[in-house]
Amino acid sequence: QGKQDLTGKRVLISAGGTREYLDPVRFIGNPSTGKMGLALAQAALHRGAKVTLVHCPASWNVPLGVKGISVISAAEMQQVMLKQLGNADIIIMSAAVADVKPRDYSAEKLPKCALPENLPLAPVPDIVAELGKIKQPQQLLIGFAAQTGDIITPAKEKLQRKKLDAIVANPIDKVDSGFGSENNQAVLIDKAGNEREIPHCSKLEMAHYLFDFVVGNL
Ligand code: C5P
Repeated sequence: QGKQDLTGKRVLISAGGTREYLDPVRFIGNPSTGKMGLALAQAALHRGAKVTLVHCPASWNVPLGVKGISVISAAEMQQVMLKQLGNADIIIMSAAVADVKPRDYSAEKLPKCALPENLPLAPVPDIVAELGKIKQPQQLLIGFAAQTGDIITPAKEKLQRKKLDAIVANPIDKVDSGFGSENNQAVLIDKAGNEREIPHCSKLEMAHYLFDFVVGNL
């Protein structure tokens, strides 16, 4: 039995990497496996929360007791997150959302010779920024920023621009961290700009660290 300090709280989590299809077999994607979002769902469930996990195609199953909603593209994730927003006290966007999609979609598989040399791209919606604009003041919105090199400066910029309550600056150029790993490391930055180092640990430990922060800020 866990701490149960999220009893009565509704937690909405997004996980995994969106896929933006060009045709039925080809897509723009990224290496996210959704394991951080899965760990967040497990931790929140353990602490007594009611958990909804909006996830992209993944190699794992949604834990028993968690409401899973599967999506593929950023547009689908946007629709679901907007619909679920009103049912959530804590929202954590750990999904790696594609920034662009192929401008055109072909319902038929394109023959190789029909693939353009320069693929026209179109932007996808910034989901968490939209949530940041319409969320209620008592709702806590947390984002992730997968970064290389200086992880802090771009993460702080995203925290402000997307109107988040906190952001997890997550290095993806360190060994055994980030995409696909069982482990992770990060710097948690709150709205006031305070930085808390989360040393290299399992994704489940990192999830609990995040919820310790959340519980202290509810
Ligand atoms: O991709 P970026 O580094 O800007 O991601 C920062 C945060 O914004 C993450 O929490 C990610 O889930 C979210 N995001 C989003 N929609 C996008 C791109 C990113 O919600 N189109």
